[in-house]
Amino acid sequence: MSCPFPTTEVKAYNKDECKALQFPVGKIEGPMQLRSKRPKMELTLTQPDDWHLHLRDGDLLDAVVSHSASHFRRAIVMPNLKPPIITTTAAAVAYRESILKALPANSNFTPLMTLYLTDMTSPIEIKLARRSGAVFAVKLYPAGATTNSQDGVTDIFGKCLPVLEEMAEENMPLLVHGEVTNPDVDVFDREKVFIETVLQPLVQRLPQLKVVMEHITTIDAVRFVESCKEGFVAATVTPQHLLLNRNALFQGGLQPHSYCLPVLKREIHRQAIVSAVTSGSKRFFLGTDSAPHERRKKECPCGCAGIYNALVALSLYAKVFEEVDALNKLEAFTSFNGSDFYGLPRNTSKIKLIRTPWTVPESFSFSFGDIIPMFAGETLEWQPSFI
Ligand code: NCD
Ligand code: ZN
Repeated sequence: MSCPFPTTEVKAYNKDECKALQFPVGKIEGPMQLRSKRPKMELTLTQPDDWHLHLRDGDLLDAVVSHSASHFRRAIVMPNLKPPIITTTAAAVAYRESILKALPANSNFTPLMTLYLTDMTSPIEIKLARRSGAVFAVKLYPAGATTNSQDGVTDIFGKCLPVLEEMAEENMPLLVHGEVTNPDVDVFDREKVFIETVLQPLVQRLPQLKVVMEHITTIDAVRFVESCKEGFVAATVTPQHLLLNRNALFQGGLQPHSYCLPVLKREIHRQAIVSAVTSGSKRFFLGTDSAPHERRKKECPCGCAGIYNALVALSLYAKVFEEVDALNKLEAFTSFNGSDFYGLPRNTSKIKLIRTPWTVPESFSFSFGDIIPMFAGETLEWQPSFI
């Protein structure tokens, strides 16, 4: 299958047809168009995994899951649902079932579940999680840091040390939203201050705990991850933090669809992250942080943080690596470093990236509203396709 979208007409498919064909559910506005101006080139990659993904639940889950499943073999699924959040193994197992039910019939996509760490999480829950075979990590949201994080951790050293010790024992990675929430700290400095006040002391105290610093945004995070012991501390990197700097938030007016957390930073930070991921280091791997919100929740007086990039992510990562002449390092970043860090087998399936221009749909329309993808309406160069 080369392109899962109509190229010459806009056709409305019903939900079952969409699932069977692996189309996104709903009408596509602004169909992907194929044009050719540069010589065609193909890359064959081991099928990638997405090590940081928001799939939501209910209608939103039904709407978005096929986008991730059409490119990625596995994904670490974040537990920050609108309450109830996923704080127990039983809830994670039930959530996994609802994701599997929402998948297209022929999909082999595997959701890897996570638990939401709270002040109340017990070490026993970690044992249960490990034994379930369904839960692969625990997510730390500092309380109030981002979407649905109000039940997150208020004092990691005061409340969570026994759980973290159990996680180190069980080889269960801690995934970290790395920002302090103190309103006195400038929003652009929150990652740096988190590293200094929480992460650095944490890895010193528990050197055996595996930690993934999620969606890194600064040169400080790059330096921190590179300074730690390889195999114990790593980072996921999103397409938006590789391609955009904070100017994108104000380009010709306020741009809610470029707003995510941690917020985009200065150009020097973007460049440091690009250098890190394209260096070939095993410490960095693909995590889209694809975070869909219905359009009216983004375009309003107090818009939600989150960029919806599931369908464009692979094209964008390829663009980043191509721009610095490092396409030979792309596969390790997309398909090896993450599974190696988690101690999971690498995928055996393959995917092709074909250098052929295509236009990102302006929006995806569903019964409950629209979702606007990253780079809506823009032309991208690399198009993923199954072999
Ligand atoms: C995420 C969401 O909407 O769930 N938003 C975001 O801006 N990245 C939460 C998160 O990962 O911080
Ligand atoms: Zn996220």
